[in-house]
Amino acid sequence: MHDPDAVPLLDRTARRAIAHRYAGRFDRGYAQGKLAGDPVYAAVARMLAAAPPLPLLDIGCGMGLLGQYLHACGLLHGYLGIDFDARRIDAGRAAASALSPPLQLQCGDAAELPAFRGHVALLDMLHYLPAPRQAALLREAAARLAPGGLLLIRNVLREANWRFHATRAEEWFLRVSGQMRVGAQHYPDADEIRAPLAALGLAVAIRPLYGRTPFNSYLAVARQPG
Ligand SMILES: C[S@@+](CC[C@H](N)C(=O)[O-])C[C@H]1O[C@@H](n2cnc3c(N)ncnc32)[C@H](O)[C@@H]1O
Repeated sequence: MHDPDAVPLLDRTARRAIAHRYAGRFDRGYAQGKLAGDPVYAAVARMLAAAPPLPLLDIGCGMGLLGQYLHACGLLHGYLGIDFDARRIDAGRAAASALSPPLQLQCGDAAELPAFRGHVALLDMLHYLPAPRQAALLREAAARLAPGGLLLIRNVLREANWRFHATRAEEWFLRVSGQMRVGAQHYPDADEIRAPLAALGLAVAIRPLYGRTPFNSYLAVARQPG
């Protein structure tokens, strides 16, 4: 296991190298902006650096940016990304084609997860499901944790503050501009994430993770006892 503070998080050159694996100006620009401005990838890398070396299931993986980031940090021990947006999966596969070890990206719905044992990530996707499906997905994700495995959830939480309203406005824009295939269905509050996991005996720690974004984002981490 590594010392989390000793993990070299990616500098500008490394982030640019990742972005340039994506074809087309839009995806490249998106990757570069996202890696520069969103603290989630470094936060996940720090958590995984201090956890047992296990494969990662990335649910709602988009273009596989998390896999690319962790690969560049030397923190991948197998990666399976799943997303139902075929365009994003194709873009992610093309970008990952030169990597060794390879990233596996699969087109599919989070409702039908494959068998898996390891760590699980759910970054910015839970709110695209209605409330009952969110609780079900949290249980399915937890069922795929290996002993010592981490379930890493980043999501906007429903709170009465300006950040929450800024997030809703951005989600509206993503939907009407066609960047998201589905619109937000339900914004969970902290208890809606904690309760289904606590019922399975997992301890859940939740903390803000805004970085330089205006969004009401939090990181929830649940650990399977080792
Ligand atoms: C905001 S993006 C986040 C992408 C990625 N997790 C990241 O942080 O870079 C949300 C992703 O969740 C995917 N998604 C939403 N609902 C899904 C579902 N039911 N099954 C699979 N993927 C889903 C979308 O297609 C989209 O790529």
